[in-house]
Amino acid sequence: MTATAPTFDSPFFRAALGRFATGVTIVTAQSSAHGPVGLTVSSFNSVSLSPPLVVWSLSNTSLSLSTLEHCDRYVIQVLGADQIALANRFARGSPAERFAGLPLSRAPGGTPRLDLPCAAWFECFNRSRYKEGDHVIFVGEVEHCASSDALPLVYHAGGYDLTPTGGGK
Ligand SMILES: Cc1cc2nc3c(=O)[nH]c(=O)nc-3n(C[C@H](O)[C@H](O)[C@H](O)COP(=O)(O)O)c2cc1C
Repeated sequence: MTATAPTFDSPFFRAALGRFATGVTIVTAQSSAHGPVGLTVSSFNSVSLSPPLVVWSLSNTSLSLSTLEHCDRYVIQVLGADQIALANRFARGSPAERFAGLPLSRAPGGTPRLDLPCAAWFECFNRSRYKEGDHVIFVGEVEHCASSDALPLVYHAGGYDLTPTGGGK
């Protein structure tokens, strides 16, 4: 049995998906040959408490794909409501431009992460990857994490309009 062909086009599908509000994260990892890579990701979600597993997905066209497929660990940083500029910055430009002037630190397992306040962060072992459609699904096994009381940034319908301090794109 196979699925029937969709009765809608991609913009229609995207609009429907946009009604599902998410948080916003920045995923960082170390490239063996170059400096750190990082990008904005809203496809993050929880999978399992025991073992502690999380999921997120990465476009097949991502320039960070090779690094993220092959790295041992990555950090997922959950952005706070006042970090819209950071979310936009890590969705554009080159890795060098994204990280320029930002403080970096290392999570306990050695993975680079932004040394900035955030709502939460998770250092994950790169447990498994599944190619599906035009994305790769990553399942991470959380080895270290921390959280704060900061209000999270909320992404919805292509903007941050549910974020109290936010609004706009
Ligand atoms: C709010 C927001 C959420 C995003 N979520 C994802 C995501 O879950 N997966 C993804 O592959 N790209 C996502 N993107 C797009 C990437 O951040 C963007 O394409 C980035 O330039 C990819 O960087 P890279 O090509 O250097 O890896 C998101 C962008 C924004 C602004």
